[in-house]
Amino acid sequence: MHLSREEEAMLRGDYGEAVAEAMKLVVGVGEALGAERLVEISHAHASGISYNNIGLEGLEWIKRLALLGGRARVYASFNPAGTCLCAESPFNTPELVKRQAEIIKHLVSMGFDYTATCIPYEYRSPRRGESLAWGESSAVAVANSLYGARTNREGGPLALAAALVGRTYYWGLHIDENREPQVLVRVEASVDGVVEAGLLGYLLGKILGDRVAYIDTPKPLSKRQGIAGCAAAAATGSIAHCIYKGLSPEDRGAPRSVERISVDRKALLEAREEAETGSLGEANVFFTGCPHLSPREALEALEKALEKRDRLAAGRREVWIALPGRATMDRDLLLLSRKAARHGVRLLYGTCPVVARVREVVDVIATDSLKTAFYLSRKGVRVALASLEEYLAAL
Ligand code: F3S
Repeated sequence: MHLSREEEAMLRGDYGEAVAEAMKLVVGVGEALGAERLVEISHAHASGISYNNIGLEGLEWIKRLALLGGRARVYASFNPAGTCLCAESPFNTPELVKRQAEIIKHLVSMGFDYTATCIPYEYRSPRRGESLAWGESSAVAVANSLYGARTNREGGPLALAAALVGRTYYWGLHIDENREPQVLVRVEASVDGVVEAGLLGYLLGKILGDRVAYIDTPKPLSKRQGIAGCAAAAATGSIAHCIYKGLSPEDRGAPRSVERISVDRKALLEAREEAETGSLGEANVFFTGCPHLSPREALEALEKALEKRDRLAAGRREVWIALPGRATMDRDLLLLSRKAARHGVRLLYGTCPVVARVREVVDVIATDSLKTAFYLSRKGVRVALASLEEYLAAL
């Protein structure tokens, strides 16, 4: 791989041991993939920071880099944690809180912003054409497909290493020709709301694997629907980039001479049958807003839906919402979240059921997020698909 003088110096250790170790990782992965050079990035986003997922080994590695003087060279953020470190978290155990707090402390000491969120694009909006190294699969698909920025699906350690060197390997979706659609998907059914957009993504992830698709819907999807679809497709498949007609910045019209696939209403209903493993009547928790809504939109939607109700029926039926780490929330957002809390909404600051030990606290969950539905089903939790209004109406 061709390296600049500065990159050679980083690899040699001239910038310290943490940088050398991070550079070795980035260059090693790049060489294994056949990348010819590195590319500078403007934002790294590390996934895989939940203690439930990375355990003691992951904690020790992050701690070592921090103690070796690692420091992010670009804006850096990270994914939700295994618990929110606050008393109201339903997922807390003393051991988890202690270990998770340690991981977060070391990330913050290296200059990471305490975002603890899967929606880093809400905190630093990616620019069209800029290079990123992101490790959260739903955010990767959103950055490429809805912002026209460039990132591969990085593993958590790679994204962390990229933050410390400010670069990643120039390969995959950083290269123009790899961003061209290889499949044309004609959607022959209307796609209404975020649940249906999620179902479309759920289905396409299974069909397409990692191929780039041009998705031709009867009406352009909204940005929130696009995010719901990207997140679901990135969960059921390895989709990192797609082009939505009328929504994606890289939409240059339907491609010619590529494979064509049709999706009709029947296919969407079949996807729903597969994804929905529980019923609304059985669900004792509703989880909403993630990742298709910004925290503000999700809290405002909750406030609107709940304003005519007294507190949610205490105990048996709850509403949960994933919010970013409390440290990144401004005053308005904190006020909105306190209002929701007064209605009995459970606020999950910097954590969510997907990365937490949710099976221990809930059997059946209702959600408007197909990404959540997919991962919770894999954890043995049964899932009903519904909008917040449908859930509240069924209370
Ligand atoms: Fe991420 Fe959990 Fe939402 S994994 S996208 S915070 S459901």
